[in-house]
Amino acid sequence: MATAKSRLSIDYANVMASAVGQENGLTDAELNDAATQATAHIDRIWNEYDAGDQRWVALPDNRQLVADIESFASSEGRAYEDLILVGIGGSSLGAIATIQALAHPFRNLQPHSNRGGPRLFVLDNPDPEKVAATLETVDLSKTLVNVVTKSGQTAETMANFLVVKDALEQTVGQDQARKQIVATTDPKDGLLRQLADQEGYRDFPVPPGVDGRMTVLSAVGMLPAALCGVDIGGLLDGAAAMREASRNRDARQNPGALFASIAWLAATKRDKSMLVMMPYADSLFGIADWFRQLWAESLGKRLSTADDEVFAGQTPIKALGAIDQHSQIQLYTEGPNDKLICLTGVGTYRSGVEIAATPDSIDELGYLRNAELGQLLDRERMATAWALTNANRPNLSISIPAIDAGTVGEFFFMHEFQTVVGGGLFDVNPFGQPGVEAGKNATYALMGREGYETLRDELTGSGGESRYTLS
Ligand code: PA5
Repeated sequence: MATAKSRLSIDYANVMASAVGQENGLTDAELNDAATQATAHIDRIWNEYDAGDQRWVALPDNRQLVADIESFASSEGRAYEDLILVGIGGSSLGAIATIQALAHPFRNLQPHSNRGGPRLFVLDNPDPEKVAATLETVDLSKTLVNVVTKSGQTAETMANFLVVKDALEQTVGQDQARKQIVATTDPKDGLLRQLADQEGYRDFPVPPGVDGRMTVLSAVGMLPAALCGVDIGGLLDGAAAMREASRNRDARQNPGALFASIAWLAATKRDKSMLVMMPYADSLFGIADWFRQLWAESLGKRLSTADDEVFAGQTPIKALGAIDQHSQIQLYTEGPNDKLICLTGVGTYRSGVEIAATPDSIDELGYLRNAELGQLLDRERMATAWALTNANRPNLSISIPAIDAGTVGEFFFMHEFQTVVGGGLFDVNPFGQPGVEAGKNATYALMGREGYETLRDELTGSGGESRYTLS
């Protein structure tokens, strides 16, 4: 099967010194130099992939998994009235982003026949109010539970899962409950793996050797997406198209490598310590949220690859156009000039909504007559790009012709490639998340988990009241 061509484009004229001045913008020489360095990382990534490493790159090829998921979703999965997805971070953000981008925005409110699958409820935070409200809302006798954890032991996920499992067993009995649970976890290791084997849960693999935040194109993202009616084959087609584009050794023609080069230069040479992702489409906001984890956890590292203390990273921020024009843009335009801003525009929105009439009595509203809302939204993006540039704020624009499974798949692969090239440029290992693990271990210690006694003593040893607590 021939790989489709990428349909995504990046306009980076407004990050250049010619648009926003030498103090804030990049020179051609700097970008060429960064691109040369990025090429070395492009070569390295593909060489490592060919040698059996960088396993995330292979995910768009797993068509057997698509068939397995589709078969499960269409045979029994989509018949359920409700789906509870239990997982956090990389184990839920990708599914949320995909479904938000590609499913009807109010699909939970639609009748089953229209939405073509269960309503979706996500339990990520162990917030008792949300968990209780979810259990009050779903019909447990018709609920499928998909518990997702790569490590198989994350406290938030296991806690939420145990609560849901118990509620399910109380409602339908143990035997039936087992049939309504699907575990997505490591094929061999972890506590959830152990439980799934013991209870005989249906299961799907989290691909070994792939960090949680890079698993959106595996069963982690695709199973919930397919259950919500998303075309997951199309998602992989788009990812494969972007993978093809990511082979280009000219980093200025390679979307992920270009974005990484610009972001790295902006962060390290122009003090743009923040990267704002601002799509002009409600449905793409979840991708900005997914990217936030990817960029933050992968590049926010204390140590360089040579183990020197570098405290690397660039803080990703999510914003939504045009809403945040009325909340954040004042700061972005006139506050500290410490951000690189990425606007995303859509060629044709999936709905066209025209303003048919304006009151004859109010001439000043005449400019909206026969205007179309998507056109207005896109012009708002252009206006924001202009205003930012005018204020010497570097910004780039990503354009896609339409929001569909293919372009969403492209976004996922491009940002992953960007992040791994970014790791090379920032000179950190983009894989692993020691800072997250530290917090996870401290939680286990505070909750009294066996094996964490020394850390518990360290955390609670003083026994005294904090001098900084106001009560
Ligand atoms: O990228 C990662 O690996 C992490 O952010 C994880 O996704 C997150 O901590 C959840 O972990 P797990 O899937 O093991 O429950």
